[in-house]
Amino acid sequence: MELAREPLTCQRDAFELPEDICWLNSAYMSPLLHSVSHAGYEGVRQRGQPWRLTADDFFNPAEEVRKLFSGLINADNDGIALVPSVSYGVGIAARNVPVQRSQNIVVVEEQFPSNIYPWRELASEQSATVRTVSLPQGNWTDAIVDHIDDKTAVVAIPHVHWTTGAQFDLGRIGERARQVGSALLVDATQSLGTLPLDVATVQPDFLVAAAYKCMLGPYGLSYLYVAPRWREGKPLEEGWLNRANAADFSHLTDYCDEYMPGARRYDFGQRSSTILLSMAIASLTQIADWRIERIEQYTRPLIEHIVARADELGLWHPPIHSCSPCMVGIGLPGTSPSDLGKQLAKNGVYVSVRKNNARVAPHVYNSIADVDRFFDTLQQITAS
Ligand SMILES: Cc1ncc(COP(=O)(O)O)c(C=O)c1O
Repeated sequence: MELAREPLTCQRDAFELPEDICWLNSAYMSPLLHSVSHAGYEGVRQRGQPWRLTADDFFNPAEEVRKLFSGLINADNDGIALVPSVSYGVGIAARNVPVQRSQNIVVVEEQFPSNIYPWRELASEQSATVRTVSLPQGNWTDAIVDHIDDKTAVVAIPHVHWTTGAQFDLGRIGERARQVGSALLVDATQSLGTLPLDVATVQPDFLVAAAYKCMLGPYGLSYLYVAPRWREGKPLEEGWLNRANAADFSHLTDYCDEYMPGARRYDFGQRSSTILLSMAIASLTQIADWRIERIEQYTRPLIEHIVARADELGLWHPPIHSCSPCMVGIGLPGTSPSDLGKQLAKNGVYVSVRKNNARVAPHVYNSIADVDRFFDTLQQITAS
């Protein structure tokens, strides 16, 4: 039985990580697994030998990616579109979800811009408002739920907040959104890969995640889940690869208005890149094999250790009950130099330094020793 499997141990050896590098920055970009690098090189080799590429190579790997990704979130293969970026996926949602005059679109404070700009544009076109939930001292999910009302057309939020690492209860938020007839879009870029999500439970209308952070995949590809009721919508591009007749290369000019079934109509042009898809398959295969629940089990104690060390130094962090297993934002000591990020990097230690916070994002290649190395180096730099 899957659940009886041993807990994960540190997987550093599976990654291309030099010994002296302390990389606590998966929220910026993950290092590559050896298997993913090899798959990428193999993708380059395939691209270099076009005489071996058949029509099937334009479709089968994409289907494999759909299958692997849908397995991670308990979706159906037909519900997955391949998009180049999160902003593109949010753009698809913004193109299709109706928003009327005087309705509102709920987002949270300091949300990543890819999940803001399409909504600002839509709100301005429709004379609607973007309603921003300030993150309070107390329960952050409560604050979001309280801002959803019968004028809410869309709730467009992350699963985990990209600077603080706070985790929102999507089950409760989704339930409230459904009660008032609002759509729910989830940006799972900073969570999926370390924090499980089941679309059958959360019931998002759209869910999008970039491949290159905690999903350990290539840059230039993102995964979009689309709920059944939105699968007849308008794509952002009128491409040929997602048409019902696309696999028949000899008849492409028998123009076809019908799309491929399900969310495939939203795929981006040239999504058959051998490089991107090979890397995506390798990374998704590895994550499926480890299982996200086991990855979470591995990273949670690292987050708890980060919080404990921050407490010792009296540094701010979100309330522990709202901390995700993906990352945590901590306040920096007042004595931090303005080039703190650079000084940490000189010592081989990498986190994201933003304003007065550091975002510490562990993954399966990290250990308690990495966390200690970060805090020890921080103390040395800020003591002088
Ligand atoms: C929460 C979140 N969403 C999305 C992205 C990436 O967006 P895009 O794919 O539009 O570049 C990032 C990058 O840091 C992010 O932190």
